[in-house]
Amino acid sequence: MCGIIGYMGSQAAAPVIMHGLKMLEYRGYDSAGICTMDDGTAEIRRSAGKLAHLERLIKDNPISGTIGIGHTRWATHGKATVANAHPHKSGSVVVVHNGIIENYLALKEELSDRGHTFVSETDSEVISHLIDEKYKTAGSFEEAVRTALKDLQGAYALCVLSQKDDKTLIAAKLGSPMVIGIKGNEYFIASDMPAIISNTREMVIMEDGEMAVFRDGGVKFSTIDGEEITKNSRFIDWSPLKAEKNGYPNFMLKEIHDQPQAVRNVIAGRLREDEGDVFFEALNLSDTELNSFERVCMVACGTSWHAALAGKYLIEEHCRIPVDVEIASEFRYRDPLVSGKTLVIPISQSGETADTLAALREAKSKYAHIVSICNVIDSSIPRESDGVIYTHAGLEIGVASTKAFTTQLVALYLLTIRLGRAKGSIDLKKGQEMIAALSELPDLIKKTLELDPQIEEIACEYLTSWDAIFLGRGICYPIALEGALKLKEISYIHADGYPAGEMKHGPIALVDREMPVFILAPNDRHLVKVRSNMEEIISRGGKAIAFCSEGDLETGRRAECSLLIPWAGEALSSVLFTVALQLLAYNFAILKGKDVDQPRNLAKSVTVE
Ligand code: F6R
Repeated sequence: MCGIIGYMGSQAAAPVIMHGLKMLEYRGYDSAGICTMDDGTAEIRRSAGKLAHLERLIKDNPISGTIGIGHTRWATHGKATVANAHPHKSGSVVVVHNGIIENYLALKEELSDRGHTFVSETDSEVISHLIDEKYKTAGSFEEAVRTALKDLQGAYALCVLSQKDDKTLIAAKLGSPMVIGIKGNEYFIASDMPAIISNTREMVIMEDGEMAVFRDGGVKFSTIDGEEITKNSRFIDWSPLKAEKNGYPNFMLKEIHDQPQAVRNVIAGRLREDEGDVFFEALNLSDTELNSFERVCMVACGTSWHAALAGKYLIEEHCRIPVDVEIASEFRYRDPLVSGKTLVIPISQSGETADTLAALREAKSKYAHIVSICNVIDSSIPRESDGVIYTHAGLEIGVASTKAFTTQLVALYLLTIRLGRAKGSIDLKKGQEMIAALSELPDLIKKTLELDPQIEEIACEYLTSWDAIFLGRGICYPIALEGALKLKEISYIHADGYPAGEMKHGPIALVDREMPVFILAPNDRHLVKVRSNMEEIISRGGKAIAFCSEGDLETGRRAECSLLIPWAGEALSSVLFTVALQLLAYNFAILKGKDVDQPRNLAKSVTVE
């Protein structure tokens, strides 16, 4: 995973790199490091923990030079220590790496036999040693890098410097994302565009198997095999979003409160009320084409996978087309059954999740049509899709996804209308009703946010719990999964989500006087059944906490405590229940004194398999 930055130009490199690293911290914050080249000397500073530690280190021990590289790490191989932090140096060669080198053990053994001493537990360190080794016989720095890359298996986006050729910077990519910003004779290399867009809008997108060599104010592009190529830059016309807390104590709470506006944004300009239909700017599919698909297959990870599960309920019910929902990391390795008649929908906030991107490529290789649902504009997933539905949730900084998820739900609701109208399974009246229900949603989210004091009381009451269960039926089953994931991620309380009817097939054995069972009981067609499932918990002495719909005073009476959530119809109430569960997890975490924006062991974007 991790984020990388490189700079060559006329400015002091360190501030440019530190700014880029700050923008990339969402990709990992276990450690960070920087190297600038100053008169043939590699000045390296590395520190464990968040970027702020590195900032302090540089303040105390400044570095200079107009060429440099930087790295922010999410640990894969080796703990979050200084020794494992990038850049890694061997001889004259200094490297930062994003990705995983799968044959690193074999390479390490071979290089150790040749006298190399390794000081870290990382896979990445072999890259610096390998280039250093190749440099002994290669005619140039470039040739050393090129021959070394041929021995690497796995994924990489990397930047390399050498003290022996201190005016050159080399970047290469295979499997991990990389963009290059160009401004006159200045070059900015990064894992994504937002990290460097404040410097330039002229960007070159690097493809797999490509290399860039920066020297003497110029750049030369080639394939790793040495064939020179021409790459055109493109002008990026969207503006970077600002990361501001707007008076909130942290980004997560701000982003939870952003949701009324985020939902307005995902809807904006897309509703055709008169036609009971929806318009997408870049779906790129006619009604006939939409009708030609035999199946829909959604691929995603984590929270986005929960959105996909909710989407299955919506699309199958209203569009009468089979929908499979796949965990992206499983999908790609089992020769999935997709064809030109399958509409594949990768869902991703970041658009950079390695597993989802790989699943997209797998589906594409089998001629599936790809329409992604994504938040980050121009990220890898939408770039490689045939069509895209942007969720326009705005910048999401909090590692635990909140507004990205609810906007994914709304995007799927919109897609359901479009698909249903194209297939004729949603008629004009039904389309108009579904659209009308949406217009109330932002205000109902606001009302749900006002429940925060009551939700805080619930969190206080169950604060000492080690485990929790979330139950839901129908579309609230994926919402239960999401509620459990949010609680786990930021409060470190173990939690599981189950379909309420599945509890009796095993998990009910866990019920005792200690563990809260959060029951999602909206006033929909499943309510009677959910109430029975709640009774099964209560009769075994369990602690049932009922999340019900406004107006339903009956269900909560039997529970230990309850919360009344506004009603937005069966499909869209799932959004409101989500908001309540986000606040629940948030309050648990804050009361326990946890860092909600950067929980331990996590990163915002998972760019390794
Ligand atoms: C949980 C969370 C993760 C992401 C997952 C996929 O709060 O944020 O589970 O949902 O890593 O990320 P994207 O959506 O960027 O592909």
